[in-house]
Amino acid sequence: MKKIAIVTSGGDAPGMNAAVRAVVRTGIYHGYQVCGIRRGFSGLLNGNPVINFELGSVADIIQRGGTFLLTARSPEMYQVESQVKAAEHLKNEGVDCLVVIGGEGSFKGAMTLEKQGIQTICIPGTIDNDINGTDQTIGFDTAVNTILDAINRLRDTATSHERVFLLEVMGRHTGYLALAAGLAGGAESIVVPEIKYDLNEICNRIMRGIKRDKMHSIIIVAEGAANIYEMNEAIKKHINVETRVTVLGHIQRGGSPSAVDRLLGSRMGAAAVDWLAEGKSGYFTALYGQDIVPVSLDSCFAERKPFPEDLYRLALILSR
Ligand code: F6P
Repeated sequence: MKKIAIVTSGGDAPGMNAAVRAVVRTGIYHGYQVCGIRRGFSGLLNGNPVINFELGSVADIIQRGGTFLLTARSPEMYQVESQVKAAEHLKNEGVDCLVVIGGEGSFKGAMTLEKQGIQTICIPGTIDNDINGTDQTIGFDTAVNTILDAINRLRDTATSHERVFLLEVMGRHTGYLALAAGLAGGAESIVVPEIKYDLNEICNRIMRGIKRDKMHSIIIVAEGAANIYEMNEAIKKHINVETRVTVLGHIQRGGSPSAVDRLLGSRMGAAAVDWLAEGKSGYFTALYGQDIVPVSLDSCFAERKPFPEDLYRLALILSR
């Protein structure tokens, strides 16, 4: 009986549990033995024993945020000795196949294990939605909805006091979360790392709103795009408005996964096992339109995921 090991790695994302559940149950359905290793690649490097799963081991997790397998950021995996050690641990545990659920960094780690002969499929799980080759990653939809909930709440108090609110959302290198939440939440300005911002334009938009009796302004700032406190001070220097800053932080990474993320996790988890059974290796499960398709791990690093500038422009037009 062949053995599949599952690892969740990097920042957790709501819907990872749905993916783990799908890998376990589809794996058992296909006649595999399925196990998990706790704490991501760090667990592998520390020689954590594998946990063997039965059908019931993944009961009652589909509705939970985070990852019940635990996760870690493991920069050690960039070193060749660590990569060899991790592969050896898997082989010693009798593991033939690996499913890694995580973001770009996790994919890089997975590729090194694949090159050492472990049949590997990855599943994109990150709230950042920044993996090139897939329309969406697991966790993004839930995080956008969490941010929208925050925007709705801020809007109530912003309107009551006629204030400008700056809201920082996650996204160290990318602004997909900021853009989606800003567009869906009707933010007046969206500040993302991909597009240089113009402070005059941000201030003009606030003033135009005030002139037409808008009661509030919401500015969404991706964490990697600007220092939100400095931006707040700069706005106050330019125009005479009352402002407040909110940093949403890790609240946007937790919480029960949305239906979209549960479906995506379930479909991607099942596809990963189907492809292992077909002998595929070195691919990740990508959402392409309505379909889950295999995309090679190499190709996801060939270029950065293109930023949807058309949506950015639309957001600016709609919130004038
Ligand atoms: O990788 C996802 C992400 O949520 C980023 O948007 C954010 O900058 C980062 O994780 C925070 O990471 P940590 O939880 O390690 O502080």
